[in-house]
Amino acid sequence: VTLDIDPDAYDAGEHDSFMHKEMLEQPAAAERVLRGRLDERFGTAHLGGLNMDARETRAIRRVKILGCGSAYYVGQMGASLVEELARIPADAEAASEFRYRNPIIEPDTLYVAVSQSGETIDTLLAVQEIRRKGGRVIGLVNVVGSAIARECDGGIYLHAGPEVAVASTKALTNMFLGFALLALQLGRVRDLSIADGRRLIAGLQRLPGQIEEVLAQEDALAELAGRLAEAESLFFVGRVRGFPVAREGAQKFKEISYRHAEAYQTSELKHGPLALISPEVPTVAIVPEDELTDRNVGALHEIDARRGPLVVVTHDGVDLGGLAAERIVVPRNERELDPILLTVPLQLLAYHAALRLGHDIDKPRNLAKSVTVE
Ligand code: AGP
Repeated sequence: VTLDIDPDAYDAGEHDSFMHKEMLEQPAAAERVLRGRLDERFGTAHLGGLNMDARETRAIRRVKILGCGSAYYVGQMGASLVEELARIPADAEAASEFRYRNPIIEPDTLYVAVSQSGETIDTLLAVQEIRRKGGRVIGLVNVVGSAIARECDGGIYLHAGPEVAVASTKALTNMFLGFALLALQLGRVRDLSIADGRRLIAGLQRLPGQIEEVLAQEDALAELAGRLAEAESLFFVGRVRGFPVAREGAQKFKEISYRHAEAYQTSELKHGPLALISPEVPTVAIVPEDELTDRNVGALHEIDARRGPLVVVTHDGVDLGGLAAERIVVPRNERELDPILLTVPLQLLAYHAALRLGHDIDKPRNLAKSVTVE
C-alpha cells in the first residue's frame, strides 16, 4: 500500500524527473530549514517547536534516534552531531526493529523520530511504543500535520517542500540540518562554548552555497556515473562520520540503479569483504580531511593492490599517497558538518547511473514513496 501522492499535482518543469528537480532545490530548501532558527548573538539555535524549557533540555542524558531507510542513515549522522556538539550519548536505530525488542524507555532520554513523509508505519509505531511507556518523543518531519508529527510531543519541521521522487534527497539534507540545529541547542545549554556555537552557525550559513558548488559538478559526475553503472556490484566505504554517508550512498545507488551496492566501514574491509575486491568491483570511498585520513588512505591501498577501481570523495589537497583513484572534491566546512557535503555527489552518481541504465528515476521498481503498512 502506498500513500497517495499524485505527481501530476506537481510540476517537474524543465527537469527529466522529480529527483533531479529536488536535488537541485537543495540549496533553497537548506536556507528554509535554517531561516529564523540561528541565534548568532548567543551562538545557539531557536527551536520553539521542541516544547522544552532550558531545565528540561539540560536534564536529557541520552538521545535515541529512530527512522527507516535513508532517514535511519541520516539519523546516524545526527547521532554523531549530538555526541560531538552536546557530548550526550546518542545513537540511531532502525525504527522497524525497535518495538520488537521490548525497548527500555528511560525518562531522561530524548527520543527523536525522523521521517520525510511522517507516515512511515514502522516509525509511527515506534513513536507510539515510546509514548505508551511514558517517554518523550520529538519529530524531525517534513510533511506538516502528518501522523508522526501529530503523535510527537514536539518537533522540528524540515520545510524541504513537497518531495515526490521515491529516492529522497532534499528532505534528507534538511534532516541533517535539523539534527545540526538540535545538537547546537542541546550543546549550548551544556558545555559547547559560545565561540564554538558561532563557528557552527557560520558553517551552517555557508552550507547552502557549498551544496550549490557540489551540484555544479554534475557533468563530471554524470560521466563517472556512466562508468560505475557498468559494474554489477559496488562497495561504498567510510568510517565514523563517513560511514553513514557510505550507507546512504549505497542505498541511493541500489534504489534506482538496481546495482548491488554494499556499504562497509573502511576499517572492516580486511575482516572479510576484501575477498570480493577485483577489477570488476569498484569502491566509492568517503575520505574527508580529518583525523582518520591517513588510516583511510592506508586501507584503500589494500583495494588498489587488488586492482579494485576506486572513486574517492574527498577534500581539495588531501594526499592519497599515489592511489590510482578518481577524485570527487567537495568544499570544506566545519568537520561536524562535512557529512552532508560528502553525501550530495553520491545522489548525483546514483541518479546518473540510473539514467544511463534507462530506469524510471522517480518510481523505482518494488518501492513506494511511503511505506504505510507493516
Ligand atoms: C529514501 O531514498 C528511501 N526511499 C527510503 O529509505 C525512505 O527514506 C524511508 O522509507 C523512510 O521514509 P520517511 O522518511 O518518509 O519515513
